[in-house]
Amino acid sequence: MSIYEFRIDGRLNARGGAAPSELRVEHHGDGTTTLTGPVGDQAALHGMLARLRDADATLLSVRALPDPVPGALERVDWPVRTERLTLRPARADDAGAVWQYRRLEPVARWLTELPADADVFRRRFAAPERLATTLLVEHRGTVIGDLMLRVEDAWAQTEVAEAARAVQAELGWVFDPHHHGHGYATEAVRELLRLCFADLGLRRVTALCFADNEPSWRLMERLGMRRESHEVRDSLHRSGQWLDGLGYALLAEEWKSQA
Ligand SMILES: CC(C)(COP(=O)(O)OP(=O)(O)OC[C@H]1O[C@@H](n2cnc3c(N)ncnc32)[C@H](O)[C@@H]1OP(=O)(O)O)[C@@H](O)C(=O)NCCC(=O)NCCS
Repeated sequence: MSIYEFRIDGRLNARGGAAPSELRVEHHGDGTTTLTGPVGDQAALHGMLARLRDADATLLSVRALPDPVPGALERVDWPVRTERLTLRPARADDAGAVWQYRRLEPVARWLTELPADADVFRRRFAAPERLATTLLVEHRGTVIGDLMLRVEDAWAQTEVAEAARAVQAELGWVFDPHHHGHGYATEAVRELLRLCFADLGLRRVTALCFADNEPSWRLMERLGMRRESHEVRDSLHRSGQWLDGLGYALLAEEWKSQA
């Protein structure tokens, strides 16, 4: 099973119905629409392409998104405690607590998607591939934020691809604005880096943000992550503006020398 993204021109002009229900539909400011979701095998992929063709969709691109490596979170002894916080894998019934802060404009403005309502959010949050990469951060029993830990393969040439499996992770963080400014995100992500390098034995972690999201890149720099890229007006924000994007990374040896 892989997650595929189908990008089509315009909106889905369904002749025989709406988009396949297993795909998440997002309309973009550049006039394209992406449909993203799990596709079982080659036959299912061909079936999906045929359904899009039948719905009069003009297909611009199809790509398999990098697989999160299943089971990475299962290799850690949960819950993990820091001085003030508890980190644990998310459960489907955490969706309500997470929606309370993710729906807020100062938070949602930086996130990839803003679901239409709590029900849509609950369904997406409960998807197995999402739960498998989401950690919750609690302070005195209250959920104050969530983290993404998505273990991935590194890019490699074909002959050495096996050696690049599950060696790195993409990280993410979202905290409730009521709990910003206390160092909780710093404390949680510091522990997340320790988990990645010490417990999971990864060789590299990465994270992305909009250049305008200063709290996010300052958090990364506080934790010793290195700015690796600055893309100029490469990312379309839902405001309609093309914004700069930043890429950060940290290698295991860098983390060790800082520790
Ligand atoms: C990115 C985000 C997590 C950063 O939150 P934050 O509150 O700036 O980070 P922390 O919780 O680590 O708090 C750091 C601040 O607390 C202060 N602080 C107070 N007590 C502290 C303590 N005990 N230890 C460390 N810092 C402390 C720090 O000085 C710092 O303040 P400053 O920003 O004025 O320098 C938050 O802005 C967020 O959730 N944004 C919305 C979602 C988002 O953008 N996610 C990222 C998408 S790429």
